[in-house]
Amino acid sequence: MTTSAQISKIVEQYQTPCWIYDAAVIRKQIARLRSFDVIRFAQKASSNIHLLKLMKEEGVMVDSVSLGEVERALVAGFQPGDIQHAPIVFTADLLDRHALKRVVELNIPVNCGSPQMLEQLGQATAGNSQGHPVWLRINPGFGHGHSRKTNTGGEQSKHGIWFEQLQQCMQIIAQYNLNLIGLHMHIGSGVDYDHLQSVCEAMIQQVKACGRDLSAISIGGGLSIPYRDGEGEVDTAHYFEIWDKARKEIEAYLGHAITMEIEPGRFLVAQSGILVSELRAQKQVGSNFFALVDAGFNDLARPAMYGSFHRITAHAPNGDARSTALRPTVVAGPLCESGDVFTQEDGGVVTTQDLPACDIGDLFVFHDTGAYGASMSSNYNSRPLIPEVLVDGDNIKLIRRRQTVQELIALEL
Ligand code: LLP
Repeated sequence: MTTSAQISKIVEQYQTPCWIYDAAVIRKQIARLRSFDVIRFAQKASSNIHLLKLMKEEGVMVDSVSLGEVERALVAGFQPGDIQHAPIVFTADLLDRHALKRVVELNIPVNCGSPQMLEQLGQATAGNSQGHPVWLRINPGFGHGHSRKTNTGGEQSKHGIWFEQLQQCMQIIAQYNLNLIGLHMHIGSGVDYDHLQSVCEAMIQQVKACGRDLSAISIGGGLSIPYRDGEGEVDTAHYFEIWDKARKEIEAYLGHAITMEIEPGRFLVAQSGILVSELRAQKQVGSNFFALVDAGFNDLARPAMYGSFHRITAHAPNGDARSTALRPTVVAGPLCESGDVFTQEDGGVVTTQDLPACDIGDLFVFHDTGAYGASMSSNYNSRPLIPEVLVDGDNIKLIRRRQTVQELIALEL
């Protein structure tokens, strides 16, 4: 793990707030999923090209959901080409015109989330005699999520092809001579042992219902990590075992081996990342003690967006953990908005974490923020994007510099 001395050194050099990732943690998480044929990183979790390069070095493929993410993957060195083990797959529920043009140009397999998306792709690739490679993302009729906002299955979700529309999609595939690679299911974020068996069964049923040969399935992502003390690690061997059983049933039905992909975002990067901020003010507000830091929800949106919990630790500027008496502390940021609180429940009720007595200038570290941290940041309140730093053993590398205010306003001049 990144040491206290490294954190202090990075802060001295690049100031706060900043993101720090530890490459060793990412490699360790990748190793835990090696039994799957293909590990495809859902880069929306953290799309810095240096992290994508690390993934590539480790043999991990990527999932892109926008033109920007496709371009990032290309810059990181992922070469579209091999269709069976495609380095890049584009997953979405619609194709905007810019993305459509690019995926067609590069022959990038498209994981379609709606019949119309499939149809538009068919129309745009009518001249391709090989048939553009496609996957079908199926909404099996139920979903799951750590928050309602991350549940991607069932009737309330906009994601995926409703399972009853599979035949309609098969007709579109035939009409446009599209090349169907496989079926995909991702029902939400947050590991879900309750539905695991049902998703496997839904996958088997859909493979049988589609009536075409397939060479792959993707079981989506969703694997969680322990954000709170006492929460367990996902049992990846068990996860694989359950899916492998389903895969074998599919293989027996099709009469040949297939490739099984897993598509995690959070699992690969969440624990590798921290957000380091500086304590700039402390105040008593009625019965609440507030610690105000220089990072806001424009940097780390998860607590404000989902009421997500991130463990916070306080450190002296030299990086040493503070060990003074603990008190319940509301940790908040600098934004002009009451929701800019890092300790809150879904719905906005303010909570606390027990933190030691601190001095202005101390460092507040938000843990497990490597997934959906930097990638969900915004420029709200005209705050520039903050730097990202990658630690690999003794090696410290700035992988994104701080945006300047001039860059931020340049588009409007
Ligand atoms: N595959 C697809 C098609 C997805 O939509 C997602 C996430 C993943 C894979 C990766 O899911 P993961 O393994 O990271 O759970 N911003 C939220 C998470 C939104 C996830 C959206 N889709 C958060 O901060 O928790």
